[in-house]
Amino acid sequence: MVEHNSGKEVNELACRHEGELIPSGKREVAGAVNADTCRELIREAIDSLKYSYTPYSGFKVGAALLTKNHKVYKGCNIENASLTPTNCAERTAFFKAVSEGEKEFLAIAIVGGKDGILEDYCSPCGVCRQVMMEFCNPKNFLVIIAKSEYDYWIYSLEELLPLGFGPANLTK
Ligand code: THU
Repeated sequence: MVEHNSGKEVNELACRHEGELIPSGKREVAGAVNADTCRELIREAIDSLKYSYTPYSGFKVGAALLTKNHKVYKGCNIENASLTPTNCAERTAFFKAVSEGEKEFLAIAIVGGKDGILEDYCSPCGVCRQVMMEFCNPKNFLVIIAKSEYDYWIYSLEELLPLGFGPANLTK
């Protein structure tokens, strides 16, 4: 069973996939991200779907970003008639948080689907992965992709963006 942990320590996390509990291995987690927190984040991401503005694709995405101080910033995708200004849900959540002074993050939950129906997992696009790389330690920032609060996978950012280029590359 997943323990509630706090502080920087190795925390056994698990994914729930269609009801079955699957250990996802040991990961370094700076803070308390346990199964309850994952489920809470997924609920918040699902709640964000109602604000998703998608007159062009109809593909609705919701995200909930957990800060180190355990605040949650929610985001949805916001499309645009000229298409390229479209902002993904994940970046909406990040930019809301950073614009309010937050720069340390533990995890993000993401849900999405055509017409807001969560038939499949919605994995973050490359641009959003790069934005995560700007503010997060790729080894321990967690990306939770979910179909429901009982059905989700957890990845580290490093797994989704191997050999990523980030701020540390410019200071070496
Ligand atoms: N979208 C997101 O919000 N996040 C992603 O990571 C993938 C794509 C949005 C952008 C656009 O509004 C719609 O999904 C279809 O691409």
